[in-house]
Amino acid sequence: MKLFIQLSLIVVLFAAILYSCTKDKGRDPSLAYSDRALYDSCKNNSAFVFYKNDPNTIYPGTNGPHGTFRLKFNHQAFSQLTDNGKLPVGGTFANGSMIVKEIFSGSNLKEYALMYKLSGSWIWAEYTPGFNVKHSVKSDHSICTGCHSQAGNRDLVTSFIFH
Ligand code: HEC
Repeated sequence: MKLFIQLSLIVVLFAAILYSCTKDKGRDPSLAYSDRALYDSCKNNSAFVFYKNDPNTIYPGTNGPHGTFRLKFNHQAFSQLTDNGKLPVGGTFANGSMIVKEIFSGSNLKEYALMYKLSGSWIWAEYTPGFNVKHSVKSDHSICTGCHSQAGNRDLVTSFIFH
């Protein structure tokens, strides 16, 4: 009987530990910025406004490696485009800002490239429309930031230079 009680206690203890681990996982804020979550956000057009309020223009994309594109800002980011539709020079986007480049091949959407502002820095990522992760939020972003630091950038956003 004593052994039975001891065993039961151990089982309960294990269950409690397992439960608290899954709960911690559920609370981990970094999971909200997982590739999956950001990919889902990219597809939710009601959360975004297209650059210059214009969903119809597809820009040529000859200044960068990405290809022809449309550009959209989530409401947080869009609200900061107060300098003739651009971020004021010297300004920084607030946490929670998200900018998505929809890259096309002809008239077909080929990729999402995005920047998301978390704790004062940008997270960078690229996904195909079928959720192949081409550049994960966990990857080394120096390849993105290297080019996005070019002269005239506004908080590492380069579209304002060319469009
Ligand atoms: C060789 C230069 C270069 C590299 C490398 C590069 N970009 Fe860009 N990116 C640009 C340029 C230039 C634009 C502006 C739009 C245009 O004219 O193509 C741009 C635009 C963007 C935009 C729209 C917001 C903005 O800054 O205008 C996003 C999002 C983006 N890039 C994501 C990425 C990600 C993610 C990476 C790394 C995986 C990356 N870029 C690497 C040149 C680059």
